[in-house]
Amino acid sequence: MRVLGIETSCDETAIALIDIETKNGAISYKILGSYIHSQIAVHSPYGGVYPALAKREHARNLIPLLEKAFSDTNTVMHPTDKTDIEIATILENTLSPKEAELHKSLSHSDLRLYIPNIDLIAVTKGPGLEPALWVGLNFAQALSALWNIPAVPVNHMEGHVIGSILHSIEPNITHTATHIEFPALSLLVSGGHTEIVLIEDWGAYTVIGSTRDDAVGEAFDKVARMLGLPYPGGPQISQYAENARNNPSNVHISLPRPMIHSKDFDFSFSGIKTAVLYTLRDTYNINSPEQAQKELPDEVRDALCKEFEDAVTEVLVSKLKSAYSAYSPTCLLIGGGVSANTHLRKALYGLGAELNIPVYIPHHHVTGDNALMIAVAGYMSSQTYTAEIRVQTHIGAHTDLKAQGTMALE
Ligand code: KG4
Ligand code: ZN
Repeated sequence: MRVLGIETSCDETAIALIDIETKNGAISYKILGSYIHSQIAVHSPYGGVYPALAKREHARNLIPLLEKAFSDTNTVMHPTDKTDIEIATILENTLSPKEAELHKSLSHSDLRLYIPNIDLIAVTKGPGLEPALWVGLNFAQALSALWNIPAVPVNHMEGHVIGSILHSIEPNITHTATHIEFPALSLLVSGGHTEIVLIEDWGAYTVIGSTRDDAVGEAFDKVARMLGLPYPGGPQISQYAENARNNPSNVHISLPRPMIHSKDFDFSFSGIKTAVLYTLRDTYNINSPEQAQKELPDEVRDALCKEFEDAVTEVLVSKLKSAYSAYSPTCLLIGGGVSANTHLRKALYGLGAELNIPVYIPHHHVTGDNALMIAVAGYMSSQTYTAEIRVQTHIGAHTDLKAQGTMALE
């Protein structure tokens, strides 16, 4: 089956094309193309993602990105047999007036006149920023109607779980996905989520622990902001922490490990963030990001980043270890943007070695938001659909292509 993935939940506009099938329980996949247009430069001056801007950028970038994907991958396209009036009506019904910019661009694009050789459209439904999600969903709805190809909604966090089984992302080669024996446990660490999930089968998820306040990526971003570092802060903090690991100084900073001994699998990260604020203010007399940028000595900044990374990592690893003791999973699946963090990756592989179970962490190129993981998750859910739902996923009868900003993974 050839699947087109569309991801617009936050600040990356992403499109992917993948061939995927299951034989005798083994999933094999061939990546034809994966395209990501990052909006970081647009949002960076605001210190975070600005929803109205994200919506505008997705609307601008989806069509050029999809046209590039089809052209680069030499996707076979055949002419539509719909009349101009039928096409105009579809665009009017699916895009206008909600997506005026997309409506205008698609009315001039060859995408409305030619049908690609694909079998399924998978699109992120949530969680995420609703205005951003709607652009992708309305686009998928329009394409589905123009091409008579079914569109399935995907939970973004399920995408992050599934990203970890794509152990190789080399394109145009058929790979066998990592086979997972259930139950498995997943640690999801992104800008909006920090969760431990019990997976009893694909599609059967129970969130057994989650953050009570900030998500771990959010904490990275907020601490970076206090230090006067640009958004997104995770990679920056990671780099400065690495400096401190490579060149130990005599600066000693100590931050708390909130809830590390609590008997549940929940997290809290806002206390670490506040402790960073107090350390800057009380020990180093730093009261603003601008002042931090100008006056904080490099070795203090590096030591603070290292201690912050250590604190977060220790809490995540410790909670995952307790969850392992409670549920005896066969393996650990890690997902979300923060899984790019080198120190965390090392610690998680270390935990796997200690527990003697495999740990699957996404390839570096797919830790952040991408459409490959959405395409694969869409394929997986389409496999469990009944014939009746399969018919409903064709446009007209589909009722589920609606954004859900706070969609849970259960
Ligand atoms: O999954 P993701 O790309 O988007 C969401 O679904 O939220 O995660 C983005 C988050 C941001 O908070 C970013 O700072 C964090 O992932 N991040 C990192 C690293 N790279 C990205 N955090 C720590 N270390 C990194 N290397
Ligand atoms: Zn994400």
